Amino acid sequence: MVNIVPAPKKTTFFQREYAYKGETVRTSLDILLGEEEYILEVTAEDGITIIGGSEKAVFYGECTLEQILHRTKNRVRAMKIEDEPVFAYRAFMIDCARHFFSVDELKAIIDTMARLKFNRFHWHLTDDQGFRMEIKALPKLHKEGSVRRGSYFGNMKLNSKYEGYYTTAQMKEIVDFCAQRYIEVVPEIDLPGHATAMIHAYPEMSCRGRKVPVETKQGIFKNILCAGSEKTYEYLFKIIDEMCTVFPGEYFHIGGDEVPKENWTHCSACKQRMKDNGLESYEQLQGWMMNRVADYLESKGKKVICWNDALGAPNLSHSFTVQRWMDRKNRSLQWANDGRKVIMGDFYHTYFDYPYAMTPLKKVYGYAPYLKGMDVRGRESVIGLECCVWTEHISSNASLEYMLFPRAAAVAQTAWGCGRESYAYFEKALEAFTPVFKQNRIHFAPKKEWNPLPLHRLGGTLKFLNRIRPR
Ligand code: ACM
Ligand code: ZN
Repeated sequence: MVNIVPAPKKTTFFQREYAYKGETVRTSLDILLGEEEYILEVTAEDGITIIGGSEKAVFYGECTLEQILHRTKNRVRAMKIEDEPVFAYRAFMIDCARHFFSVDELKAIIDTMARLKFNRFHWHLTDDQGFRMEIKALPKLHKEGSVRRGSYFGNMKLNSKYEGYYTTAQMKEIVDFCAQRYIEVVPEIDLPGHATAMIHAYPEMSCRGRKVPVETKQGIFKNILCAGSEKTYEYLFKIIDEMCTVFPGEYFHIGGDEVPKENWTHCSACKQRMKDNGLESYEQLQGWMMNRVADYLESKGKKVICWNDALGAPNLSHSFTVQRWMDRKNRSLQWANDGRKVIMGDFYHTYFDYPYAMTPLKKVYGYAPYLKGMDVRGRESVIGLECCVWTEHISSNASLEYMLFPRAAAVAQTAWGCGRESYAYFEKALEAFTPVFKQNRIHFAPKKEWNPLPLHRLGGTLKFLNRIRPR
């Protein structure tokens, strides 16, 4: 067995044959292979060759080879690796709204993720506590929406101004950097909730039309976008137009999570919208709003993603890909069984804002991407999985990296090679990945912290819950 993260589908060793490490690697394409499928062969006669179904697949072969070479001295054992992923959508999300991470900080993480064969970077760019993209058509979004007067997240109390946004050029730089590593950037503009920073910049996007400060605390806030006013759509479409010039990818995320609807119940424009469209509940109004935005994006050729909360709307367009994170009513199960697309993940296993005490590496590794009750069609509807890191309580790059790694590697293993190998294999294979962490100067969690003992888990959990408790 060759120790690689994520584990290859099939490895065959040839007896008593070796190639030399310094040899040039020959690569070629074979259209009979899948888009992400490759064959890596090492023989005494032909040296090292990688054949891929595409340039991207060849890149994955190179990533595998890199890990093999890291653990060999000067001879490489002769072998044949035949490999392809289980899931086509393998994503990680970073919340750059609550805290801002520089382009260089993101690049180190992205490069590491690429070597774990992730292929989507879900970039959470807007939230109540900050709007972090330059939008030239509506400049108050980045000039004013990106600044908050302090940060009061749990026991974090910073009375100083916190600000930051990515310029168009910087976002393009990230898109290019990702593209070179076969990662598509999936940008997210969260709507209609988690929109306080947008409303701060343009109060006319809200029901009450009043200026509100950019939020400085964690939580769910009732200032949401007005679903009735045409101004909201006019502005959203301007933002989307500009985002589409920066983010050329296939997918686009429009949020839809945690939407308290109280302000809509007091708004004449929202009520009129419901009347005009025969909508019977505020959930349906959210569905109508998200469908309208999705229609606009689809007219530009995008596939649109929303969080599973939006499934509360019975009229949600079936074209949405739903991202599961916390689904108490298990609506995403029916959605999948009805043949509609889902991205899997959940708060208990794949949310890395929680400490290792709550979400140890082994638990992440054990995440099962198929739900109980999923039939054949339901399983086919799972396009892949995603791990997320929310950053209310993560303010430095070092702690972001510590929370992500190596837990992201466990998700990579499930996304690429679900069920192929044991946890014991995975831990061993992680050793071969350590040089990649070191190359990118990643502050990964040391082994002794991956799986705390029960008492430490309890202590660590209580400590964390106390740290994040709203003050
Ligand atoms: C979420 O964690 N609010 C999607
Ligand atoms: Zn309204």
